[in-house]
Amino acid sequence: MGSPSSLLFLTFAFVLSSLSSTSSIPNPELFTQCLEANSENPIPFSTTFFTPNHNASFTSVLDSTAQNLRYLLPSMPKPAFIFTPLEDSHVQAAVICANKLKIHFRVRSGGHDYEGLSFVSLIEQPFMIIDLAKLRAIQVDIAHNTAWIEVGATLGEVYYRISEKSPVHAFPAGVCPSVGVGGHITGGGYGSLHRKYGLAIDNVIDARIVDANGNILDRKAMGEDLFWAIRGGGGGSFGIILSWKIKLVQVPPVVTVFTINKTLEQNANKILHKWQQVAPNIDEDLFFMVEIRGVNSSTPGKRTVQTTYIGRYLGTANRLLQLMAEKFPELGLTKKDCWETSWIKSVPYIYGFPNTTSPEILIQRTISDKVYMKNKVDYMRQVIPEIALNSIWNIFMQDDEPVMVWVPYGGMMNRISESALPYPHRKGVLFKSQYIARWNDGEKSMEKHMSWVRRFYNFMTPYASRFPREAYVNYRDLDLGMNQFNQTSFLRSSTWGFKYFKDNFIRLMKVKYEVDPSNLFRHEQSIPPLPLKSNKD
Ligand code: FDA
Repeated sequence: MGSPSSLLFLTFAFVLSSLSSTSSIPNPELFTQCLEANSENPIPFSTTFFTPNHNASFTSVLDSTAQNLRYLLPSMPKPAFIFTPLEDSHVQAAVICANKLKIHFRVRSGGHDYEGLSFVSLIEQPFMIIDLAKLRAIQVDIAHNTAWIEVGATLGEVYYRISEKSPVHAFPAGVCPSVGVGGHITGGGYGSLHRKYGLAIDNVIDARIVDANGNILDRKAMGEDLFWAIRGGGGGSFGIILSWKIKLVQVPPVVTVFTINKTLEQNANKILHKWQQVAPNIDEDLFFMVEIRGVNSSTPGKRTVQTTYIGRYLGTANRLLQLMAEKFPELGLTKKDCWETSWIKSVPYIYGFPNTTSPEILIQRTISDKVYMKNKVDYMRQVIPEIALNSIWNIFMQDDEPVMVWVPYGGMMNRISESALPYPHRKGVLFKSQYIARWNDGEKSMEKHMSWVRRFYNFMTPYASRFPREAYVNYRDLDLGMNQFNQTSFLRSSTWGFKYFKDNFIRLMKVKYEVDPSNLFRHEQSIPPLPLKSNKD
């Protein structure tokens, strides 16, 4: 934010805001009649349509993929009904009918949204859910290094189905196997291969989307502006993605994974300080992140900070050990910390499973623990001085089970321009720092954990990126601001828009106006449509 053109735009747009058509009380019968009339093929409603009063399975369908239990608390608004389409024409019919009957809706693929935006509407009730979990076909074409993946598939399913066809092909996307590709790819998708191959969005070559009129558009039909916007502009603003065509990347037959722990008593501060300089600059074949937790120390009754380095090297253990001896001897990596394996077996390991875990776990759709959580994130562009770490631990250790995860950038991420796609956090980012509060007792201790993670985020301000303080749209954070009921405004949305997208936010608002001027696709942080034509340069 800050170029002359964007400042001019800001002055003009300052006063603009956009009203959406208000939603009405959803009538399930009218909706199902409309679906029938608008779908190419008959719809078996007994297995695809769920209302709280008529279906015993309503709650289990609602809860099925919802990842953050905070958004399933009884105090959270519940949908009037849930529709689970079985084919593309069902999705088209759902959009046409929701529009016609003025029913506000949310779209869910994998249900991992940190703020539950895919299954809870805080700002607009009543609402319904279009849940795409049953659209999950994956067609891998090794001869052309591509695959078509439907949005209800999980990352684990995608990785597994690729590996069934080839042990040396992969897709660069998230670390957590149960994340859905529908939401994940709309927001970016970092993972253990992004230093080598970029994000998931950097490896998408086509997509199929249902637009606000219920039409299905592929890349050619939607045009390059919309195709740009859906690769990183965040879910739920531009249409309903049905499937992505992805480009597969090469991995070697043998990769090496490792885990190594260092506590404060084992020189953790010095090593962590060095990691910040090494991990973003080292050979792109190496990705190693740090999970930082509060744990019991070896001295009874005392707590300490534990840093866990978890990595994957695209090559053999011997080459990795040579590299580490040269660039990062302080970590003390030895052969016994390393495990040589295939890429697909390394996927559950990197996520935290023991190395005895079979890759078949990746096709179980619910492998992550569900907890109550609140997450916040920063992008770090400067090394945090070693001397500052102890004061950080003072605040960090104030929660019962504090977690922070540092993910290194650099490599390919430095070579893709900030405006190539809406995701702007590229050149110069050293690492992403995620702050996680997790708890198990529902509302009882919620306030305590939520206020800790907010306090910790505030404490990290001097070390974080600034102007703007960057944030990741796939790590939705409603503390950054929210649209109001029935209204999106530039002024309001700029509080989070520039953090998620930097100057790309302006282009996103233009595209939104072109494809969805009446703001059918909306939620707490959806992109507002502003009546400015996109530059077709
Ligand atoms: P969900 O279905 O909740 O959708 C998320 C958003 O996208 C919502 O706004 C929704 O309306 C919209 N949406 C969903 N499907 C859509 C569709 N078909 N068309 C249009 N809009 C759609 N991220 C990362 O980059 N790397 C990682 O390693 C991880 N790891 C991780 C672990 C865990 C445990 C969690 C909870 C989250 C992550 N994430 C992550 C973040 C994850 O990428 C992010 O939450 C995704 O948006 C989740 O996509 P789902 O489809 O699962 O979510």
